Amino acid sequence: MFLLMDSINKLTMKKIFVSALVALCGFTASYAQQASFLSNNHCLYRISQESQNQKCLLLPVQEDAEMANIKVIADNKQVKAFNVKLAKDHVDYFVPLYMDEFAGLKGLALNIHVNGDYSKEGLNALTCWKEMKFSDAFDMKNREQYRPDFHHTPAYGWMNDPNGMFYKDGVWNLYFQHNPYGSQWENMTWGHSTSTDLVHWKFQGTPIQPDAVGTIFSGSAVVDKNNTSGFGKDAVVALYTSAAENQTQSMAYSTDNGKTFTKYEGNPIITSTVPDFRDPHMFWNEDIKKWNMILAAGQHMEIYTSDNLKDWKLESSFGEKYGNHGGVWECPDLMKLKVRGTDKEKWMLICNINPGGPSGGSATQYFVGDFDGYKFTCESKPEVTKWMDYGKDHYATVSFDNAPNGRRVAIGRGGITWMSNWQYANQVPTQQYRSGNSIPRDLGLFEYKGETYCSVVPSPEMTAARSKKAGKKLTESCEMVVNLKGNATITLSNDKGEKVVMNYDAKAETFSMDRTKSGKVDFSKDFAAVTKAPTYGKISQLRIFIDKSSIEALDADGKMSMTNLVFPSKPYNKVTVKGKGKYQVYDIK
Ligand code: FRU
Repeated sequence: MFLLMDSINKLTMKKIFVSALVALCGFTASYAQQASFLSNNHCLYRISQESQNQKCLLLPVQEDAEMANIKVIADNKQVKAFNVKLAKDHVDYFVPLYMDEFAGLKGLALNIHVNGDYSKEGLNALTCWKEMKFSDAFDMKNREQYRPDFHHTPAYGWMNDPNGMFYKDGVWNLYFQHNPYGSQWENMTWGHSTSTDLVHWKFQGTPIQPDAVGTIFSGSAVVDKNNTSGFGKDAVVALYTSAAENQTQSMAYSTDNGKTFTKYEGNPIITSTVPDFRDPHMFWNEDIKKWNMILAAGQHMEIYTSDNLKDWKLESSFGEKYGNHGGVWECPDLMKLKVRGTDKEKWMLICNINPGGPSGGSATQYFVGDFDGYKFTCESKPEVTKWMDYGKDHYATVSFDNAPNGRRVAIGRGGITWMSNWQYANQVPTQQYRSGNSIPRDLGLFEYKGETYCSVVPSPEMTAARSKKAGKKLTESCEMVVNLKGNATITLSNDKGEKVVMNYDAKAETFSMDRTKSGKVDFSKDFAAVTKAPTYGKISQLRIFIDKSSIEALDADGKMSMTNLVFPSKPYNKVTVKGKGKYQVYDIK
């Protein structure tokens, strides 16, 4: 009883104190003036000119709250709309609504509709109204426990597929499926980051945002060197899926190296009523002197040609009865690669598929064959399925356009992938951001027992990022190089008893990774897993990249790659290698 009284008193005192403080700061007045509750689900939140001069409005998010739809209106006209889970009873994190998007607009207000039943407590009882605040800064410091050091992650908010990647004038441009208003999938927008070394990335904003045609799903970008599109020499032209009731393809172009984009006035340029019709990937095909584009349509790929990037002709389709059909085909790519140790060149068609992966959920399959610019012919039997990576967290792999010349010839096309799986991507235990990309990898082809496979090696930039000296101590962000002479078991562990066990079986020609006891695994029934890969011959060196919450194990020779997320409660600080293996560790900065 006393305890209760005591806490009531404390609470009342706290309330009086807070109201006094709030009144002093003029908060009560502006709060009342800002928020008008028009029904149990509808609030009009006015933004004064003074507030509009600040950098951003911080919106409080609670991930298990109901979704709110916010329409930004200026002088009663809608200028933007998005969805956000406004805090109901506590705040998980804040997301910024930047005011410079509305520069020069007058009479700004948020027309907010919150889903759910608030007839008892009233809409004004939600925590969000008290927590929404204007600020001159948004804190993007990299301090979450699981946020990697040398992998690209969004500065804040959700990320899935890499999009529209291109290289130009010394800069690698990476766009990505982004939700700027929460760390779960929603409001698909193209976020943008750049790098000069493929290891350190800088967030550049959200240059392609949803519009009346739809939200902005995955796609690609090319550097139009000969101005075939008429948007200007060296314009960057992007093609993406506009997702609304139907999925259609739209275009945008940039004349400032991909910083800002203008949407094409003729959008959408390709329409269809097929339910899954998306992720256009374009490239210049020197063999036929035309643009090619490959698009995922349900469970097959469509191949198009164009002279000007605007008018596309459907030439053929590929995929019926070929490979794995356990899920929807998505995010295609098509590229010509050298076959290692020969003077042959072959084409590889990348097909990301969800679900249907070798360990459940999302994964990347590929087909090797011939492409004459109009039709792709797979050289393997239809029942053959080839996977690019045998981990659970390798999806939406696509390549960069316009990668530096000599380099492409020498080592194939650089690829990059999304390190997660649709089975649990929205639940992984991070908050201010969710998901990262893999390290950059160079793709090529090699032959083994009558089949041609994709080789995957860490891009040379990863070697350049190593510390000068190698040691034996595991750090949170490092590369472990293991030289193998036969069977070996590699265990990473911490003093909480959490561990990851990797096993190379030279005779069976397999490599496996067990993350069942790796740390936090119970956020999804699909997370705990042992993944297993064929090694297509012997492995003599493993390169294992560990970066706080990811482990990428690659055969240095490119015959095997395995990408898995892990969430240890404390970093792994102990290594044991049993069997025929010697290791050393490089720090990566
Ligand atoms: C693949 C995907 C794409 C789509 C995008 C939407 O992960 O489903 O097919 O364009 O994500 O965010």
